[in-house]
Amino acid sequence: LTVPKIRTRKTDGKTGEPLVMLTAYTARQAQILDRHCDLLLVGDSLGQVIYGLPSTVPVTLEMMAAHGAAVVRGSYHAVVVVDMPFGSYEASKEQAFESASYLVKQTGAAAVKLEGGAPMAETIAFLNQRGIPVMGHVGLTPQAVNVLGGYAARGRTDAEAETIVGDAKALDDAGAFAIVIEGVVEPIAIEVTRSVSCPTIGIGASSQCDGQVLVTEDMLGMFERVPKFVKKFESISEVIERNVAQYAQEVRDRSFPGPEQTYQPKD
Ligand code: KIV
Ligand code: NA
Repeated sequence: LTVPKIRTRKTDGKTGEPLVMLTAYTARQAQILDRHCDLLLVGDSLGQVIYGLPSTVPVTLEMMAAHGAAVVRGSYHAVVVVDMPFGSYEASKEQAFESASYLVKQTGAAAVKLEGGAPMAETIAFLNQRGIPVMGHVGLTPQAVNVLGGYAARGRTDAEAETIVGDAKALDDAGAFAIVIEGVVEPIAIEVTRSVSCPTIGIGASSQCDGQVLVTEDMLGMFERVPKFVKKFESISEVIERNVAQYAQEVRDRSFPGPEQTYQPKD
């Protein structure tokens, strides 16, 4: 799959095959997800998921580069998109190009994603014109948590709704190849999807978006507390817990390692 092919995957909200995207942070995880997904996102959510940070704000370019490279090594089919971390692109379009080119060179990823609306349009056009495709991200933008004051859904007031639709149109006009809509009330997510020519990818948005994304660890029940928009499929935590408890017990009662796991001189 390629970025231009993703760009054409606009649906009418009801028919047409939606894009499937999940986050991945490691090579092995990417290998497992790759054949099922159109896009793999190396999200800056790795700050919380992998590093136990309180938000995505402290995530660095080096962290994104290391995990991005691992994910690209584990994927063959899906388009890999790497998040630009907070502070690496907002100052100017030149700063954004420097950071984005570092990320694509270090990782081999096909594209980057950055957060923000109309104020980021010029930057998106600048990167796109210089060989770096950009995915946009509007609505609830977690890097702005300290301005937004939390992670509540957006678009509940007319003013907020109008801003979100305007933001998405600006990113589309600037040449974004897809736009993530996060944490936005459904009617506005639908309006955004109808208002832009590129595919929208929803998370806490609407089934009528042109695709969906979730944080893989959230979906697999690695965390107790997750936002309303996360569907937990099975609980990986329970599987890990059960197997680790059994290992601990077998070590303690000396039944592990058994003969099958032990070398003998005559084997
Ligand atoms: O960082 C991330 O995982 C994301 C997705 C939730 C869209 O940006
Ligand atoms: Na992100």
